[in-house]
Amino acid sequence: MGESIIGLKRTHRCCEISLDELGQEVIVMGWIQKTRNLGGLIFVDLRDITGILQIVFRTENENGLFHKAAELRNEFVIAVKGVVEKRSPEAINSRMITGSVEIIASELRILSSAETPPIYIEENSDVNEAVRLKYRYLDLRRPDMQKNLILRHKTAQVVRKYLDENKFLEIETPMLTKSTPEGARDYLVPSRVHPGKYFALPQSPQLFKQLLMVSGFDRYFQIVRCFRDEDLRADRQPEFTQIDIEMSFVNVEDVIEINEGLLKRVFKEVLNIEINTPLPRMTYKEAMEKYGVDKPDIRFGLELKDISDIVADCDFKVFSEPVRNGGSVRAINATGCGEKFGRREIDGLVEYVKTYGAKGMAWGTVSEQNEFKSSVAKFMTQEQTEKILNTMGAKAGDLICMIADKNEVVFDALGHLRIEIAKKMDLVEKGSFSPLWVTEFPLLEYSEEEGRWVAKHHPFTSPMDEDLEMLETDPGSVRAKAYDIILNGTELGGGSIRIHDQELQSKMFKLLGFTKEQAWRRFGFLLEAFRYGTPPHGGIAYGFDRMIMLMAGKDSIRDFIAFPKVQNSSDLMSGAPDEVDEGQLEELHIKNI
Ligand code: AMO
Ligand code: AMP
Repeated sequence: MGESIIGLKRTHRCCEISLDELGQEVIVMGWIQKTRNLGGLIFVDLRDITGILQIVFRTENENGLFHKAAELRNEFVIAVKGVVEKRSPEAINSRMITGSVEIIASELRILSSAETPPIYIEENSDVNEAVRLKYRYLDLRRPDMQKNLILRHKTAQVVRKYLDENKFLEIETPMLTKSTPEGARDYLVPSRVHPGKYFALPQSPQLFKQLLMVSGFDRYFQIVRCFRDEDLRADRQPEFTQIDIEMSFVNVEDVIEINEGLLKRVFKEVLNIEINTPLPRMTYKEAMEKYGVDKPDIRFGLELKDISDIVADCDFKVFSEPVRNGGSVRAINATGCGEKFGRREIDGLVEYVKTYGAKGMAWGTVSEQNEFKSSVAKFMTQEQTEKILNTMGAKAGDLICMIADKNEVVFDALGHLRIEIAKKMDLVEKGSFSPLWVTEFPLLEYSEEEGRWVAKHHPFTSPMDEDLEMLETDPGSVRAKAYDIILNGTELGGGSIRIHDQELQSKMFKLLGFTKEQAWRRFGFLLEAFRYGTPPHGGIAYGFDRMIMLMAGKDSIRDFIAFPKVQNSSDLMSGAPDEVDEGQLEELHIKNI
């Protein structure tokens, strides 16, 4: 049982005490980081969200106080009254914010005792993540985790302020919504009142924000939870947060402009980093051809080059056949790696690209005499080899990595290889931020699995006006008014100008393989709304968790979410998801099978 707090009011947080408070009587409260009992003197490091403050208990204060202080253990919660004193010069600790002061205690209350915690409460503790997540409330006591959530809070405030200043209204949209096809798998919520019927948790507020545009709220935003039942990765959670934005009477340029302002403001105010605008832009096509991915990390080079034309007629079937079948041969010049990497390391890269579907990787190094040393050189004429080296800008000591296959595989394998080599060569400058826009995404992509076209972004994205004519003749070539904002090789956000015309929207659904009835059953409320006067509109959504993770220069969003889920979408702390009582299921008309 802890003592009561009655009669004590906290006057300061730990790190709010400085030399300015010398001689003042203060009351501080927090957790015990550590204690040192020197016999006649007890030092206690008191911790709260601001940091650590040293408390001193002296024997001469005898009134039971010293004995009580001797009982203190790590993580006890205490309240201390005392006077602020300057530390003697040799006791000053310049690494602590409060390193030049200490509190000479005159009263101590033990508000709560504590068992020995299962994890160390200290910065950079390297405890296993599963244990950290099971005891997340303790993990969150650690200063680095508190810093992460403070960064998140600050960023949210700056975002709200900027959007408010720019006349955006924050409007909430429902969490219990209608399941719509397309996109990821839905989380479903059974309805008690309507047997056999289900709500879906929103994957994003997409349809609602478009309906708000129909309603005339011409600038909307929301910092909102979204739910997607998909396989998790380091930068993906089943529930995550978006900064969701929608605007009326805009084109692509308007959306980009307001969002560049937002990014600039966030980085300046939160990190004091200047982001130069306008940001670089690249079309989807260019991104794929140069970087092999639609989310290029442009902090380093190692760009892909197409060598298909050079090798199309060479004697190496591994190269010539894919080219003949509509694929390609592309290569990366891993500058300097010919010298740096040994055979084992290069074999490792060959195995690496195979995990991305490549059947192999041909490679060669450039010797001091500018000769191309490669097992595939024998299949090429001198002229072909020279052309390859020229195209690759190769010089002595370089390593040329070549992959032949369907374009999709070539891009994927080389795109990943590029990043892998940059990591090995330490090409990325820490703390640097290189945002860019990727534009003109394809509107549709063909799903072999489903045997139909699916929307690359979502079904409400508008085709580019110049490509409208190809909608029926060549759907795969139609580009969309869609844009992604990419930061350091991660998709930070994405959006589009929407279709605001009922007829075009119906056409789009038809392309996606919906009958008119199916489209109306699923999306009728949107199609209906479009009958009554719809402004042209468009918007974007940022992955807020990812944004904070990137700002902190880290690579797991779990560290930026107070209570995240693990790989298999469960919560190690509460044990969710869990079984429920039979009675609850009965009420919901559900039977486990
Ligand atoms: P999209 O599906 O691209 O667009 O999502 C927008 C951004 O949300 C983030 N994100 C995620 N973050 C963590 N975990 C996840 N599982 C996850 N899934 C997505 C990404 C992504 O860029 N309604 C549209 C936006 C629009 O058109 O306005 C949408 O949701 O950073
Ligand atoms: P193989 O003919 O399978 O013995 O391969 C000869 C060389 O070509 C090896 O170095 C392979 O790694 C490489 N190779 C095989 N398939 C491909 C491919 N699709 N693209 C590039 N190189 C390949």
